[in-house]
Amino acid sequence: MPKLDDIDLADLDRFTSGFPYRDFDDLRRDAPVWWHPPTAHTPGGEGFWVLSRYADIVAASADGATFSSETGGDRVGGGTTLEDMPMEFAVGALLNMMDDPRHAQFRRLLTPSTTPRALRAIEEDLRRRAIDIVDAAIAKGDCDFLIDVSAELPLQAVADLAGVPQTDRHELMNWANVTLDYEGREVGEVSDRVAQAQAQMFVYGTNLLVRKRSESPTTDLLSIVTHALIDGEPLSENEQRLFLSLIVAAGSETTRNSIAIAMSALSERPQTWEQLRANRTLLPVAVEEMLRWASSTPYNRRTATRDIEMHGQQIRAGDKVSLWWASANRDDAVFADPYNFDIERNPNPHLAFGRGVHFCLGASLARMEMRVMFEVLLDRVESVTLTGPIEYVRSNKHSGVRHMPVTINPR
Ligand code: HEM
Repeated sequence: MPKLDDIDLADLDRFTSGFPYRDFDDLRRDAPVWWHPPTAHTPGGEGFWVLSRYADIVAASADGATFSSETGGDRVGGGTTLEDMPMEFAVGALLNMMDDPRHAQFRRLLTPSTTPRALRAIEEDLRRRAIDIVDAAIAKGDCDFLIDVSAELPLQAVADLAGVPQTDRHELMNWANVTLDYEGREVGEVSDRVAQAQAQMFVYGTNLLVRKRSESPTTDLLSIVTHALIDGEPLSENEQRLFLSLIVAAGSETTRNSIAIAMSALSERPQTWEQLRANRTLLPVAVEEMLRWASSTPYNRRTATRDIEMHGQQIRAGDKVSLWWASANRDDAVFADPYNFDIERNPNPHLAFGRGVHFCLGASLARMEMRVMFEVLLDRVESVTLTGPIEYVRSNKHSGVRHMPVTINPR
């Protein structure tokens, strides 16, 4: 299999023109459970397993006891990124890097505030914000779609949901952006800029949590985590602070990338844009296709807790196992003509939000934000024309757009 020798999923330069879907076509066909050998770029000089087929990824994400979000075997660190995160500081303390039963107890506290029903209360507010955002971009004409349109709504929405004052949201976002971008560094390296951003976020988070604790409980997520008890004990300081970082990063970065990537797909397909305008009832189904298409979280990692055989390959306890949602979303065993952006695709069982117990907590919010944003764009904008190439973030963890130069033509 000579082609596979060329694949290096830890080489971030290979992600700067978007997700390398074609490499995964080869992997799904020839090596569905692939041992990615150590390369100059793999964190810790270690190899890792790559699952690329839909069915295998669904099976692994359904079996959290074998494929842990914490750790396994003799491994010292763990977590859900290719690089090992430290135990206790991140692993076992961050909601998404925690296994059941504590994960389930933690998550149960948050679900009532994130259901479609609970979110209905903020839909009109979001729509008003989306209108302001789109009108400001229309007034500019030439703008950066990522910065001027798609970044703002998710940021405002997540600030509301989490209970972060709107006036602080940009500062918080800047810190999160620095931490998530791998510009000028490799996976596993922490530059001075990143260390500084993390330190500032730490101080900010500590102060905000102190304030939340002193206030009466509300339904915002930070208020919930500061007042909650699990087995009669409050969440640790670390769990509370890390939750803030998680929610800001997970809530804003992913949705804005999905909006931007979906907009670029639509601007290349004017007929589809018109079809959506003519038939708004298609929008909820179209949003699912946008999510599949963008797959803005390409992968999450697990650690094997026991030896297991898959497709004749021996995975050992302690091995890193990566689940590539973006690859599953182009698997033609599930999606007919997967490279066709089909806004009427239904059913569309994409894995953009993951699967299993860690299924995205913010899925309903993200869906609503995308629907509202595209409703407003279709109402007010004739067309969006790309005026230059999309600049992607240098990362294999986020299909992130850094800049997307466009001209917005009003209706
Ligand atoms: C298009 C937008 C989004 C995408 C593509 C996305 C993707 C994902 C994926 C793939 C996972 C699973 C992680 C794993 O299995 O290890 C996840 C989990 C999570 N997401 Fe999202 N997400 C999005 C929006 C949001 C929003 C808006 C929020 C918050 C308001 C959010 C908060 C979370 C949290 C807290 C988890 C961890 C859940 C757990 O471990 O139980 N996400 N997301």
